[in-house]
Amino acid sequence: MKKPLLLLCLVLAALTMVGPAQRAQSTPPLKEAFKSAFLIGAALNRRQFSEQDSRALPIIKAQFNTISPENQLKWQYVHPRPDTYDFEGSDRYVAFGEQYQMVIIGHTLVWHRQTPAWVFQDGKGNQVDRETLLSRLHEHILKVVGRYKGRIKGWDVVNEALNADGSMRQSPWYKIIGEDYVAKAFEFAHQADPQAELYYNDYSLENEPKRNGAIKLIQKLKTRGIPIAAVGLQGHNKLDWPTMAQQDDTIGAFAKLGIKVNITELDIDVLPYVAEEMGPTIKIADQPTLNPYASGLPESVSRLQAKQFAGLFQVYLKHRDVIDRVTFWGVTDGDTWLNNWPVRGRTNYPLLFDRDGKAKPALEAVVKTALGVQ
Ligand code: GLA
Repeated sequence: MKKPLLLLCLVLAALTMVGPAQRAQSTPPLKEAFKSAFLIGAALNRRQFSEQDSRALPIIKAQFNTISPENQLKWQYVHPRPDTYDFEGSDRYVAFGEQYQMVIIGHTLVWHRQTPAWVFQDGKGNQVDRETLLSRLHEHILKVVGRYKGRIKGWDVVNEALNADGSMRQSPWYKIIGEDYVAKAFEFAHQADPQAELYYNDYSLENEPKRNGAIKLIQKLKTRGIPIAAVGLQGHNKLDWPTMAQQDDTIGAFAKLGIKVNITELDIDVLPYVAEEMGPTIKIADQPTLNPYASGLPESVSRLQAKQFAGLFQVYLKHRDVIDRVTFWGVTDGDTWLNNWPVRGRTNYPLLFDRDGKAKPALEAVVKTALGVQ
């Protein structure tokens, strides 16, 4: 047989051998499917951005064009003691993003969690005053944001400043500095990198009272001339929450403020609800009904989850003009925080890739929304 003819036969033979597994791989990657709408991202843990997680790495490179650090830039890691900054992990995170040409996000500068106790105390363990805390905050932000100036595109400046009823959370930041700690943090971040986008990030803003609190907070920042670029809706969702109407109204309400709306920590929890404060009191071995899918996710639940994900993406696509980025909080079900929160040792399934790194039905459902297929 002549060479070109032989080649053609080989190609045809290969094509007829393509099975379901290969066809699944031909689903376009998320970042391609949503290219004309918004960026698609994932939060990475240290093993992932250090290229040690061989299961997640191919998924990250193929599917995502933006990354967030799951923990590495939080105060406790980057500034563990008053005179010690540790940038070893965060330098790697940023280098990873640059190596693979991803949009790099910073998370988070001011939060009530994962912040060491010394930040709020003097050498004797007494609470510091407003001026001391403001000057610590200033130093921290200048140092951290300044280090990655021009490399990290945007920062979650303040995370979770609000209560469920929309009032300000009584965090140490609020109690010691007062309400303007939020504005101050934004001003310091802007000073450190005037080009960086600055965000306010929170969860459950789909619930009206909390959403209204966030709207007020953002309006106040804007009145003060603070350049807030976007609100981050964390998107830690459930199979039946938020409703599509709540999601739609929420994005629409923030868009009216003239800012962007990013989805920053997307996942869909499939396990029975446990109140946060109850979590630590529960031993899963004693209460197996709270961990119903330890040996696998039933198809019916997997379908429900795919439907909820697809519904959300339809809403996101409707608002594509104000959404810059949709970021999942993790890569595979094996590495999600929801396996250990609020109860330790459960088996959750909140993401688009399973524990073996295989695409779940939800992935196809999401991609189909981009292609306009139901
Ligand atoms: C919040 C924070 C994140 C992360 C998640 C849980 O949403 O913003 O940094 O800690 O909780 O992992």
